[in-house]
Amino acid sequence: MANIPFFFALFPLVLSSSVTKAQQVSVYELKRADFSAKFTNYGATMLSLILPDKTGKLNGIVLGYDSIEGYKNDTTYFGAIVGRVANRIGGAKFTLNGVTYKTVANDGKNTLHGGRRGFSDVIWTVKSYKRDSHVTFSYESFDGEQGFPGNVSVSITYMMLGTNKLAVKMVAKPLNKPTPVNLALHTYWNLGGHNSGDIMSHTLQLFGSKLTPVDSELIPTGEIVPAQGTLSPASPSRQQV
Ligand SMILES: *[C@@H]1O[C@H](CO)[C@@H](O)[C@H](O)[C@H]1NC(C)=O
Ligand SMILES: *[C@@H]1O[C@H](CO)[C@@H](O)[C@H](O)[C@H]1NC(C)=O
Repeated sequence: MANIPFFFALFPLVLSSSVTKAQQVSVYELKRADFSAKFTNYGATMLSLILPDKTGKLNGIVLGYDSIEGYKNDTTYFGAIVGRVANRIGGAKFTLNGVTYKTVANDGKNTLHGGRRGFSDVIWTVKSYKRDSHVTFSYESFDGEQGFPGNVSVSITYMMLGTNKLAVKMVAKPLNKPTPVNLALHTYWNLGGHNSGDIMSHTLQLFGSKLTPVDSELIPTGEIVPAQGTLSPASPSRQQV
């Protein structure tokens, strides 16, 4: 991580001048008083999230790049919506209703985060934008995209709720065939501030009762085991995602 430039929220973003697609890549800010967040329709990505800390000092708490070019080069999925299927599909294939589908391998022999050009690397349409309220991005994924079956209509809404609260609503509608869909917002958080050092003093609590163990290539083995007793607060375990 040390060499990755952090997104510096006080500078305006440098937009790519070489967008050849019909859709323009732009930055959309949501703002209410001291609470603000920036997004781009490239990957439906959250670029920044800024709010006052307990002393009132404004702090950007997500990691990112200082230009859209950085996101296009990115291999870490900073702040993007990942899909059609977040995480790995072992052997880049799956069987659904008796039909085996071959997806694009982009992580050794596996498919990661939707393949070589997943939802994090496409230009989304801006459906609705109101600066003090919300921005909605949509994407029409086509039958066979990265090997996945069926058209899927996807929409992502980032919305401000009250003070210092942001909600993300994800909707995916398969239009003509059954298909797996598993979307994730791939933000890297640092609640101490994006440039405040590591997050080893952060505590994260997940209210899950079971977990899916993974093999050496991070592919779920198929087992589902109780979470109870697998983690001691004194020796937190780290898992790569
Ligand atoms: C993106 O990658 C290209 C090619 O490797 C490089 O020339 C360019 O400096 C990179 N841009 C950013 C913003 O990282
Ligand atoms: C599926 O997507 C293709 C290509 O975008 C389009 O031509 C077709 O009409 C779509 N079919 C349905 C059922 O949405």
